[in-house]
Amino acid sequence: MDHFAIKDGVMHAEDVALPRIADAVGTPVYVYSRATLERHARVFREALDAVPDKLIAFAVKANPNLSVLKVLGRQGYGADVVSVGEMRRALAAGIAPERIVFSGVGKTRAEMAAALDAGIGQFNIESEEEGLELAELADAMGMTASCALRINPDVDAGTHDKISTGKADNKFGVPISEAGQIFGKLAGQRGVNLRGVAVHIGSQLGDLAPLEAAFTKLGELVTALRAAGHIITHVDLGGGLGVPYKQGERLPSPQEYGAMVARVTQGWGVSLIFEPGRVIAGNAGVLLTRVVRVKRGINDPFVIVDAAMNDLARPALYGAYHDFVAVEPDGSAMTANIVGPICETGDTFAMGRHCDRVRTGELAVFRTAGAYGATMASSYNSRGFIAEVLVDGDKFAVVADRIDAGSIMDAERVPDWLA
Ligand code: LLP
Repeated sequence: MDHFAIKDGVMHAEDVALPRIADAVGTPVYVYSRATLERHARVFREALDAVPDKLIAFAVKANPNLSVLKVLGRQGYGADVVSVGEMRRALAAGIAPERIVFSGVGKTRAEMAAALDAGIGQFNIESEEEGLELAELADAMGMTASCALRINPDVDAGTHDKISTGKADNKFGVPISEAGQIFGKLAGQRGVNLRGVAVHIGSQLGDLAPLEAAFTKLGELVTALRAAGHIITHVDLGGGLGVPYKQGERLPSPQEYGAMVARVTQGWGVSLIFEPGRVIAGNAGVLLTRVVRVKRGINDPFVIVDAAMNDLARPALYGAYHDFVAVEPDGSAMTANIVGPICETGDTFAMGRHCDRVRTGELAVFRTAGAYGATMASSYNSRGFIAEVLVDGDKFAVVADRIDAGSIMDAERVPDWLA
């Protein structure tokens, strides 16, 4: 459930009518709802009530906005980060370093050093090579890094190929068949306290079976590692739970996920870490856009909106579906191609979409844009970066300024020999 709804004929975010935001801030603009973020954070946490010892670390990549992180930090969430940039955001939002987990397949030495300096809670090591380098670095710094070894369980998550991470030929983690041997080698190194294992098989998962299969394999690995004399105190189960992008779409609920986790991990005797991203932030945001004009097409009309693939990349990148609805619907419908202004055909949000009728100058939103929206923006076609707004009840604030194309150009230099 989210807090974006039509009231008195106008779509609101909580108690703020979206045209108010468009008038004050301009379009396109991302709009997030604090009440929705808090609700999702609470529902996910309560779904895991049966898991006694846990850390829920929000996957910062899904929405790294400082205010969003602040809201989630206040809900007791930690952070799963994949770069020093994300780590700095989590720290700036007040998330305690020990509640930060550093994932990612290409951590640089400088990033590892910065994370050690910051005192983060856990490194998820993605390879033997990375583990050896971290051990050597931490030892040289006179520190011990708490670590988990990320396992590639070779499970097909059944999601889009580009967001699947747990198949044998994906770049993530170490093959489960070699996990025991690599764990043994790394556990013997000074500089690391290898205390557990981690897994993350993909994103926007619509079925719990692959997750259960991966967790079950992980449980067997924990037993084998313990039998080999290792002390396992932490297991990171990653993120990946999908969200409905279409009205009425049915996905596994957090409650079903929580029940499965409690059942599979019963008796493991570890502290569990979770890294949800989309399920917390996805439906807590919309992309508010204005129709530039409606152009006749051979078949359906083209609704050209002022948002584009540089603002919301998911449709162009993954063929992803985002609901497109009018902010002030008049009850009539149309079939249209929804496109942005960018000069390539990939800048298409939907073809032949049956949707609310919209006219030139009217406002509309792309729903479920709170995760992997603003964070994946680019400045392609010199369009700059759009603003982000957070709504809280009847008030709203700009929580990320629009960065116009001129400011980006200001960071460029023409060398003397070209002047
Ligand atoms: N943990 C790790 C190690 C991850 O790689 C990810 C996502 C997550 C947690 C959070 O997954 P979530 O709960 O949000 O599914 N840009 C793509 C999604 C990429 C996800 C990458 N990793 C999209 O727009 O669909």
